[in-house]
Parts: sequence; C-alpha cells; structure tokens
Amino acid sequence: MTDQKTQFYFEIKDLSVGFRTFEGIKPVLNIEGLRINRGETYGLVGESGAGKTVLALTILGLLPKPAGMILNGSILFDGVDLLKQSEKQMAEIYRGKRLAMIFQDPMSTLNPVFTVGQQIERVITRQEGLKGKACLKRSLELLDMVKLPDTMNLIDKYPHELSGGQRQRIIIAIALSCGAEFLIADEPTRNLDVTIQAGILKLIDELQRDFKMSVLFIGNNVSLVNIFCRNAGILYRGKLVEEGLSNCVVQNPLHPYTQTLISAIPRSKSEKLKFSKTVIKPEAENGCPYFSRCTIGKENCSMHVPMLREFRTESSAESLNDIQNPVQKAACFYAGGTI
Ligand SMILES: Nc1ncnc2c1ncn2[C@@H]1O[C@H](COP(=O)(O)OP(=O)(O)OP(=O)(O)O)[C@@H](O)[C@H]1O
Ligand code: SF4
Ligand SMILES: [Mg+2]
Repeated sequence: MTDQKTQFYFEIKDLSVGFRTFEGIKPVLNIEGLRINRGETYGLVGESGAGKTVLALTILGLLPKPAGMILNGSILFDGVDLLKQSEKQMAEIYRGKRLAMIFQDPMSTLNPVFTVGQQIERVITRQEGLKGKACLKRSLELLDMVKLPDTMNLIDKYPHELSGGQRQRIIIAIALSCGAEFLIADEPTRNLDVTIQAGILKLIDELQRDFKMSVLFIGNNVSLVNIFCRNAGILYRGKLVEEGLSNCVVQNPLHPYTQTLISAIPRSKSEKLKFSKTVIKPEAENGCPYFSRCTIGKENCSMHVPMLREFRTESSAESLNDIQNPVQKAACFYAGGTI
C-alpha cells in the first residue's frame, strides 16, 4: 500500500474499453493516462455518449458483462490494479467500501418500495453490523451529515415523497456511509434545478474537505468543474483531448472542442446562448476524432491521430508551483498555434 506522500494514489494507464456488438467490438474508451492525488478533486467533462459513465463503471468493476470488455490497461488505486481484482475482492474490499459512487439517476438508485430509513439501515447493518437503536442513531447521523432537516420524520418517507435534491442527499449519505476515501460522482446534479444543483455541489465540496476524500467528479458543464475541481480533463468520444489545472483549462482552453464548450456558456443572464458554427465534414477514420466538427482542421488532421502533448502556457506556468502537473495537455496538432 502507498503512503500519504504517494504521488499518484489513483492512476489510469493505457485503458481501452469496448462493447461487443453485431458489427464486432466497438471501442468506447481509450485513455492513455489519468491521475488523481490523495485528497484531490478531478473534474471529467464531456458531452453525452463521451464514455464518462463507462469509465466510472469500469473503475468499480461494474461494466455490463458480457457485452462490456476491458481490452487493455490498468487502473491503479493505492498501489493495486483494480482490473486484476476478482469480483469477490471488488465486493468485499473496494466497491461501496473504499470506493463509493453517486450514480447519475437518483430514482434508479433508491428502491421505491422501501422507506429512506429501511434503505439506509440495510446498508449500515451490512457494513457495520449495527441493529436496532444503534442503527437508527447512525442513520440519523448520516442524514445530518448531508444537511437534511427533520430527520426523524424523513426516515419514514418513501423516495417518491421527496424532492430531487432530498433524494440526491440521501444517495450521498448512503454512498458515504462506508467512510469511502475515493468518491466517483457521476453527474450528481443532472435533472436538478440550478439552485438545488448549487446546494448539492457545495455539499460534495464540503464532504470532500471534511473527509479528505479524492473525488472523480463527472459532469457536462466545464464551468461547474472549475468551481471546485483542482484538475480537469475533457473527454471526447472516449479520449482525453485536453487536461490541466481546471482554471487553466477554462481560462485558456487549447483544444478546439474545449473552446467550443466554453464559448457556449453564457457569461451573464442577458448574454444569448452561442451556438458553434456547423461544420459538415466526413468523419476521419484514421485521423483526429474531432475532425468532422472542427472549424480549423486541415488536411493532415484527417490522416493522423493527434496524441495528448504537453504545453507550457502562461496561465499554467503562473498558477503553479507544482511539479506534478506543470503543464496543460491537448490532443490537437494546432493547439497553441503549433504543428
Ligand atoms: N451496454 C452497452 N452496450 C453497448 N454500448 C454501450 C453500452 N453502454 C454504453 N455504451 C456506449 O458507450 C458509449 C459511452 O456511454 P456512456 O454511458 O459512458 O456515456 P456518457 O458520457 O456517460 O453519457 P451521458 O452524459 O449521456 O451520461 C456510448 O456510445 C454508448 O452507446
Ligand atoms: S487536430 Fe486538427 S481536426 Fe483535430 S482538433 Fe486539432 S485542428 Fe481540429
Ligand atoms: Mg453518463
């Protein structure tokens, strides 16, 4: 096991994941490297279908079988390759214990036929062996931890009697009941209105600090990630196309896809939504995955795949005294105006 000073507490190396289809194996994820330090928050952003949930499920050993296949790579967590663990080891040591996950749809996580109390107590009894009054006391503590009021009353309610925000807080309470040290939050504010979203994000941020957890925060809004994630990665069609300190990625996006994502965010209420120029180009099977949508792509982009390479930009150099992540990375031949 690694000690507190371990450089990369969580590290994905050359991970490749695909699904068996009638046409053969369809690759959906191809990540060369992704690293998260102990106690750090990493924001992974990408549009629908980019592969965010597939990555989360792969980490937890929950990839749907037999369709889902790990084709290559390793996922090192505290010195152990999770991909080499048996299902028994994943269930007994890691999943729901050291590794917790908040799934993107609260209604599919909570069982509609059991009360909040029954669902929390089941988990506590299984994990801590508590029963009766001790179990009730612990359930109320967990509901308190996620800042839900009137907990004695809440415990007897069914999921359909609660608001989306309340349901999501209960899911966070259940996910963290095991005292996890690594949390995967897969779009935890999806389908919630903006004010409720803010409350949930603030809660995750506070819990991360209180429990010094490492967090892989998955979202589709890069500005949310910038609020509380130290590092950010932009996922496009299963590949990381940009990575760096989140404020550098947001202030100085290098990849055309990240630039489009950021320019689409209205800066004030009066600003109109901007839509990126529509580019109609064929897909480049042997070239850049973003070629068909890229407004600046040139002929060579359709023939070669750009690898993630390092850039030392003014913002990354200024804001960092950290030798672990001194640069921003982008997978584009023309990022930073070079080829
Ligand atoms: N069981 C499956 N069988 C075949 N393909 C799948 C399966 N599950 C996911 N995929 C494919 O994997 C790709 C990534 O899906 P994933 O659910 O990870 O996207 P996502 O980034 O989480 O999107 P969203 O933001 O909508 O949640 C998609 O192209 C999807 O069609
Ligand atoms: S490599 Fe070419 S096509 Fe791909 S994002 Fe960069 S400029 Fe666009
Ligand atoms: Mg998803």
